[in-house]
Amino acid sequence: MSDQKGRREALSASIETYLDLIGEAEAVIAGKPYTKEEWDLSTILDVLAPPPLDLDSIDGANLRVLEAMVASCSKCRLCEGRTMTVFGEGSAPARVMVIGEGPGYEEDKSGRPFVGKAGEYLESWLKSIHLDRMQGVYIANIVKCRPPNNRDPQTDEREACMPYLLRQIQLVKPQLILLLGRTAAQTLLNTEQGVGALRGRYHRWQGIPVVVTYHPAAVLRNTAELRRPVWEDLKRVAAYLGIELGR
Ligand code: URA
Ligand code: SF4
Repeated sequence: MSDQKGRREALSASIETYLDLIGEAEAVIAGKPYTKEEWDLSTILDVLAPPPLDLDSIDGANLRVLEAMVASCSKCRLCEGRTMTVFGEGSAPARVMVIGEGPGYEEDKSGRPFVGKAGEYLESWLKSIHLDRMQGVYIANIVKCRPPNNRDPQTDEREACMPYLLRQIQLVKPQLILLLGRTAAQTLLNTEQGVGALRGRYHRWQGIPVVVTYHPAAVLRNTAELRRPVWEDLKRVAAYLGIELGR
Protein backbone atom coordinates (compact mmCIF):
# COMPACT_ATOMS: atom_id res chain seq x y z
CA MET A 1 0.00 0.00 0.00
CA SER A 2 2.93 2.38 0.57
CA ASP A 3 3.71 1.79 -3.12
CA GLN A 4 0.59 3.72 -3.97
CA LYS A 5 1.65 6.51 -1.64
CA GLY A 6 4.99 6.73 -3.43
CA ARG A 7 3.26 6.70 -6.80
CA ARG A 8 0.98 9.55 -5.74
CA GLU A 9 3.94 11.58 -4.51
CA ALA A 10 5.89 11.00 -7.71
CA LEU A 11 2.88 11.89 -9.87
CA SER A 12 2.23 14.96 -7.78
CA ALA A 13 5.84 16.13 -8.24
CA SER A 14 5.71 15.59 -12.02
CA ILE A 15 2.43 17.43 -12.40
CA GLU A 16 3.71 20.31 -10.28
CA THR A 17 6.85 20.61 -12.39
CA TYR A 18 4.69 20.67 -15.51
CA LEU A 19 2.33 23.30 -14.10
CA ASP A 20 5.31 25.41 -13.03
CA LEU A 21 6.74 25.24 -16.54
CA ILE A 22 3.44 26.38 -18.01
CA GLY A 23 3.22 29.14 -15.42
CA GLU A 24 6.73 30.32 -16.25
CA ALA A 25 6.03 30.22 -19.99
CA GLU A 26 2.86 32.23 -19.50
CA ALA A 27 4.74 34.74 -17.36
CA VAL A 28 7.39 35.15 -20.07
CA ILE A 29 4.71 35.69 -22.72
CA ALA A 30 2.92 38.20 -20.53
CA GLY A 31 6.21 39.85 -19.64
CA LYS A 32 5.58 39.47 -15.94
CA PRO A 33 7.64 37.90 -13.19
CA TYR A 34 6.56 34.33 -12.30
CA THR A 35 5.55 33.54 -8.74
CA LYS A 36 5.28 29.88 -7.90
CA GLU A 37 1.77 28.76 -7.07
CA GLU A 38 0.49 26.24 -4.56
CA TRP A 39 -1.58 23.57 -6.28
CA ASP A 40 -4.17 21.31 -4.70
CA LEU A 41 -3.71 18.18 -6.77
CA SER A 42 -5.72 15.81 -4.60
CA THR A 43 -8.67 15.56 -6.99
CA ILE A 44 -6.60 14.73 -10.04
CA LEU A 45 -4.46 12.36 -7.99
CA ASP A 46 -7.57 10.55 -6.78
CA VAL A 47 -8.41 9.90 -10.42
CA LEU A 48 -4.91 9.00 -11.63
CA ALA A 49 -3.83 7.01 -8.58
CA PRO A 50 -6.84 6.33 -6.35
CA PRO A 51 -5.98 5.89 -2.68
CA PRO A 52 -6.17 2.26 -1.62
CA LEU A 53 -9.64 1.07 -0.64
CA ASP A 54 -10.13 0.03 2.93
CA LEU A 55 -11.78 -3.32 2.31
CA ASP A 56 -12.93 -3.53 5.91
CA SER A 57 -14.93 -0.31 5.64
CA ILE A 58 -18.32 0.27 4.08
CA ASP A 59 -16.77 2.69 1.59
CA GLY A 60 -14.47 0.04 0.24
CA ALA A 61 -17.07 -2.73 0.00
CA ASN A 62 -18.57 -4.18 -3.15
CA LEU A 63 -22.19 -5.35 -3.07
CA ARG A 64 -21.32 -8.85 -1.92
CA VAL A 65 -19.11 -7.63 0.91
CA LEU A 66 -21.64 -4.97 1.86
CA GLU A 67 -24.37 -7.60 2.09
CA ALA A 68 -22.18 -9.66 4.40
CA MET A 69 -21.58 -6.59 6.58
CA VAL A 70 -25.31 -6.02 6.85
CA ALA A 71 -25.94 -9.68 7.66
CA SER A 72 -23.79 -9.40 10.77
CA CYS A 73 -24.72 -5.81 11.68
CA SER A 74 -25.78 -4.82 15.17
CA LYS A 75 -25.47 -1.05 14.86
CA CYS A 76 -29.03 -0.45 16.03
CA ARG A 77 -31.70 -2.13 18.14
CA LEU A 78 -33.53 -3.49 15.10
CA CYS A 79 -30.98 -6.31 14.99
CA GLU A 80 -32.61 -7.76 18.10
CA GLY A 81 -35.94 -8.67 16.57
CA ARG A 82 -34.91 -9.66 13.06
CA THR A 83 -35.09 -13.15 11.61
CA MET A 84 -33.07 -12.22 8.54
CA THR A 85 -31.52 -9.01 7.31
CA VAL A 86 -32.99 -7.81 4.02
CA PHE A 87 -30.16 -6.30 2.04
CA GLY A 88 -31.92 -5.73 -1.25
CA GLU A 89 -31.63 -7.33 -4.67
CA GLY A 90 -31.72 -6.76 -8.38
CA SER A 91 -29.59 -5.52 -11.23
CA ALA A 92 -26.44 -3.49 -10.81
CA PRO A 93 -26.12 -1.23 -12.63
CA ALA A 94 -29.84 -0.52 -12.64
CA ARG A 95 -32.16 1.73 -14.58
CA VAL A 96 -34.32 2.24 -11.51
CA MET A 97 -33.47 1.80 -7.85
CA VAL A 98 -36.64 1.42 -5.81
CA ILE A 99 -36.28 2.26 -2.13
CA GLY A 100 -38.89 1.33 0.47
CA GLU A 101 -39.02 1.67 4.20
CA GLY A 102 -37.94 -1.60 5.74
CA PRO A 103 -38.69 -5.31 5.82
CA GLY A 104 -42.14 -6.49 6.84
CA TYR A 105 -43.19 -9.92 8.07
CA GLU A 106 -42.62 -11.82 4.81
CA GLU A 107 -39.39 -10.03 4.03
CA ASP A 108 -37.98 -10.71 7.47
CA LYS A 109 -38.75 -14.42 7.02
CA SER A 110 -37.33 -14.70 3.49
CA GLY A 111 -34.49 -12.17 3.54
CA ARG A 112 -35.81 -10.62 0.32
CA PRO A 113 -37.30 -7.13 -0.18
CA PHE A 114 -40.91 -6.57 -1.22
CA VAL A 115 -42.10 -10.16 -1.40
CA GLY A 116 -45.38 -9.74 0.54
CA LYS A 117 -48.62 -8.15 -0.64
CA ALA A 118 -47.01 -4.74 -1.06
CA GLY A 119 -44.29 -6.40 -3.09
CA GLU A 120 -46.74 -8.08 -5.41
CA TYR A 121 -48.43 -4.76 -5.95
CA LEU A 122 -45.09 -3.06 -6.58
CA GLU A 123 -44.32 -5.67 -9.23
CA SER A 124 -47.54 -4.81 -11.02
CA TRP A 125 -46.56 -1.14 -10.93
CA LEU A 126 -43.22 -1.95 -12.53
CA LYS A 127 -44.91 -4.10 -15.16
CA SER A 128 -47.24 -1.24 -16.03
CA ILE A 129 -44.20 0.72 -17.18
CA HIS A 130 -42.59 -2.31 -18.85
CA LEU A 131 -40.06 -2.97 -16.11
CA ASP A 132 -39.33 -6.25 -14.38
CA ARG A 133 -38.07 -6.38 -10.81
CA MET A 134 -35.28 -8.72 -11.82
CA GLN A 135 -34.20 -6.86 -14.95
CA GLY A 136 -32.75 -3.40 -14.76
CA VAL A 137 -34.35 -2.78 -11.39
CA TYR A 138 -32.78 -2.86 -7.94
CA ILE A 139 -34.94 -2.93 -4.83
CA ALA A 140 -33.78 -1.91 -1.37
CA ASN A 141 -34.99 -0.36 1.86
CA ILE A 142 -33.99 2.42 4.23
CA VAL A 143 -33.48 -0.05 7.10
CA LYS A 144 -32.34 -3.60 6.53
CA CYS A 145 -33.97 -5.15 9.61
CA ARG A 146 -37.67 -5.40 10.37
CA PRO A 147 -38.99 -2.93 12.94
CA PRO A 148 -41.16 -4.64 15.58
CA ASN A 149 -44.81 -4.84 14.47
CA ASN A 150 -43.86 -2.90 11.33
CA ARG A 151 -43.61 0.36 13.24
CA ASP A 152 -41.83 3.24 11.49
CA PRO A 153 -38.06 3.01 11.78
CA GLN A 154 -36.89 5.65 14.26
CA THR A 155 -34.46 8.43 13.45
CA ASP A 156 -31.45 6.81 15.11
CA GLU A 157 -32.20 3.49 13.39
CA ARG A 158 -32.46 5.14 9.99
CA GLU A 159 -29.23 7.03 10.62
CA ALA A 160 -27.43 3.88 11.74
CA CYS A 161 -28.45 2.05 8.58
CA MET A 162 -27.89 4.91 6.12
CA PRO A 163 -24.21 4.26 5.29
CA TYR A 164 -25.19 0.87 3.84
CA LEU A 165 -27.81 2.41 1.58
CA LEU A 166 -25.50 5.21 0.47
CA ARG A 167 -22.82 2.74 -0.57
CA GLN A 168 -25.49 0.56 -2.18
CA ILE A 169 -26.66 3.47 -4.34
CA GLN A 170 -23.06 4.21 -5.33
CA LEU A 171 -22.59 0.62 -6.41
CA VAL A 172 -25.98 0.19 -8.11
CA LYS A 173 -25.50 3.44 -10.06
CA PRO A 174 -29.20 3.83 -10.89
CA GLN A 175 -30.30 6.14 -13.67
CA LEU A 176 -33.23 7.11 -11.46
CA ILE A 177 -34.32 6.53 -7.87
CA LEU A 178 -37.95 5.84 -6.98
CA LEU A 179 -38.76 6.48 -3.33
CA LEU A 180 -41.78 4.69 -1.91
CA GLY A 181 -43.56 6.37 0.95
CA ARG A 182 -42.82 8.97 3.57
CA THR A 183 -39.97 7.24 5.39
CA ALA A 184 -37.92 6.68 2.24
CA ALA A 185 -38.66 10.15 0.86
CA GLN A 186 -37.97 12.06 4.06
CA THR A 187 -34.82 10.11 4.88
CA LEU A 188 -33.10 10.29 1.51
CA LEU A 189 -34.20 13.79 0.61
CA ASN A 190 -33.59 15.00 4.15
CA THR A 191 -36.91 16.82 4.45
CA GLU A 192 -39.95 16.93 6.73
CA GLN A 193 -42.39 17.24 3.84
CA GLY A 194 -44.90 14.50 3.15
CA VAL A 195 -45.35 12.44 0.01
CA GLY A 196 -48.22 14.64 -1.13
CA ALA A 197 -45.91 17.66 -1.25
CA LEU A 198 -42.90 15.83 -2.66
CA ARG A 199 -44.49 13.83 -5.46
CA GLY A 200 -45.36 15.15 -8.89
CA ARG A 201 -41.90 16.45 -9.84
CA TYR A 202 -38.30 15.34 -10.16
CA HIS A 203 -35.92 15.79 -7.28
CA ARG A 204 -32.20 15.24 -7.41
CA TRP A 205 -29.99 13.32 -5.06
CA GLN A 206 -26.25 13.64 -5.71
CA GLY A 207 -27.00 14.27 -9.33
CA ILE A 208 -29.37 11.31 -9.69
CA PRO A 209 -33.00 12.14 -10.57
CA VAL A 210 -35.47 11.08 -7.89
CA VAL A 211 -39.22 10.46 -8.08
CA VAL A 212 -41.31 10.19 -4.91
CA THR A 213 -44.58 8.29 -4.74
CA TYR A 214 -46.86 6.62 -2.22
CA HIS A 215 -45.91 3.33 -0.62
CA PRO A 216 -47.72 0.37 -2.21
CA ALA A 217 -49.02 -0.67 1.22
CA ALA A 218 -50.61 2.77 1.61
CA VAL A 219 -52.13 2.56 -1.85
CA LEU A 220 -53.60 -0.86 -1.04
CA ARG A 221 -55.32 0.77 1.93
CA ASN A 222 -56.63 3.71 -0.08
CA THR A 223 -56.71 2.65 -3.70
CA ALA A 224 -59.54 4.94 -4.75
CA GLU A 225 -57.59 8.09 -3.94
CA LEU A 226 -53.96 7.10 -4.47
CA ARG A 227 -54.05 4.97 -7.60
CA ARG A 228 -54.14 7.88 -9.98
CA PRO A 229 -51.27 9.92 -8.49
CA VAL A 230 -49.12 6.79 -8.38
CA TRP A 231 -49.80 6.16 -12.05
CA GLU A 232 -48.76 9.72 -12.83
CA ASP A 233 -45.56 9.22 -10.88
CA LEU A 234 -44.85 5.96 -12.69
CA LYS A 235 -45.36 7.72 -16.00
CA ARG A 236 -42.78 10.28 -14.87
CA VAL A 237 -40.32 7.44 -14.23
CA ALA A 238 -41.03 5.95 -17.66
CA ALA A 239 -40.68 9.34 -19.33
CA TYR A 240 -37.26 9.93 -17.84
CA LEU A 241 -36.07 6.48 -18.86
CA GLY A 242 -37.45 6.89 -22.37
CA ILE A 243 -39.89 4.00 -21.97
CA GLU A 244 -42.76 4.27 -24.46
CA LEU A 245 -46.09 3.45 -22.85
CA GLY A 246 -48.36 3.78 -25.85
CA ARG A 247 -51.84 4.96 -25.17
N1 URA B 1 -42.43 -2.61 2.68
C1 URA B 1 -41.23 -2.00 2.54
O1 URA B 1 -41.09 -0.81 2.71
N2 URA B 1 -40.19 -2.76 2.19
C2 URA B 1 -40.28 -4.06 1.96
O2 URA B 1 -39.26 -4.67 1.62
C3 URA B 1 -41.54 -4.66 2.10
C4 URA B 1 -42.60 -3.93 2.46
FE1 SF4 C 1 -27.68 -2.72 11.22
FE2 SF4 C 1 -29.46 -1.49 9.65
FE3 SF4 C 1 -30.12 -3.75 10.88
FE4 SF4 C 1 -29.85 -1.52 12.29
S1 SF4 C 1 -31.37 -1.91 10.70
S2 SF4 C 1 -29.02 -3.53 12.81
S3 SF4 C 1 -28.17 -0.54 11.22
S4 SF4 C 1 -28.54 -3.50 9.32
